Amino acid sequence: MKLKLLFSTLAFIGMVLLVSIFYLKSKTPSSFNAKAIAKKTTKVQEKSKPSSSSDSKILIAYFSRIGQQYAVGNIKEGNTAVIAKMIQQKVGGDLFEIKVAKDNYPTDSYTKLTEVGKSEQEKKARPKLASKVENFDSYTTIFIGYPTWWGDKPMAVYTFIESYNFKGKTIVPFSTHEGTGFCGTRGMESLGAKLLKGIGIYGHVAQNERAEAKKLVLAWLKEIGF
Ligand SMILES: Cc1cc2nc3c(=O)[nH]c(=O)nc-3n(C[C@H](O)[C@H](O)[C@H](O)COP(=O)(O)O)c2cc1C
Repeated sequence: MKLKLLFSTLAFIGMVLLVSIFYLKSKTPSSFNAKAIAKKTTKVQEKSKPSSSSDSKILIAYFSRIGQQYAVGNIKEGNTAVIAKMIQQKVGGDLFEIKVAKDNYPTDSYTKLTEVGKSEQEKKARPKLASKVENFDSYTTIFIGYPTWWGDKPMAVYTFIESYNFKGKTIVPFSTHEGTGFCGTRGMESLGAKLLKGIGIYGHVAQNERAEAKKLVLAWLKEIGF
């Protein structure tokens, strides 16, 4: 009889212990679980990891003309090209010259060049380009440079921006001019890209006053975070 009582008491204690263990396990909040904490932290760290320079690949695409140009005479390197190379010196990245497939732009007369530019603009032309950017998708930041042509950009630059998917990328515009200033970003606002503040630099300053041009370029790059 005594033995039976002992067994039932032990069985009862065992049951109580088992039920308590299951109850406590089910009530333990996951935040008390060290493994769960470690997993969560890792995930957050991955998400908020600051983008390092190796994460951002830069392309500097530009359109620029040589030959007879306003205020600088017969130039061997275009004004916008000069600025593009200054930018590359500071931020790195790859240079890409936007060239038309059939180059009929006069180099012997500035006036004739302005006429061709005007005619392209009036026709809303989209001149075919000579080459494509390889692995465009791998670039995260694209500088786009152009001379001011009749208050806007050369039509070949429209061909360029309409040829690629800029969604999620950062565009940094720059232009050279001879009086009307930065000619804006028409056509770039609707590309789904983040558009940074552009700069306009006098062409003759880019060409003939390089130290001054460099100062302007570096101050602008600093202002926009490069
Ligand atoms: C077709 C054409 C149109 C131009 N229109 C303007 C203009 O509207 N406003 C301006 O300030 N400069 C104008 N310019 C001057 C250029 O913007 C300037 O010379 C520029 O620096 C040239 O750059 P590039 O050598 O890179 O081609 C024009 C030049 C050309 C050839």
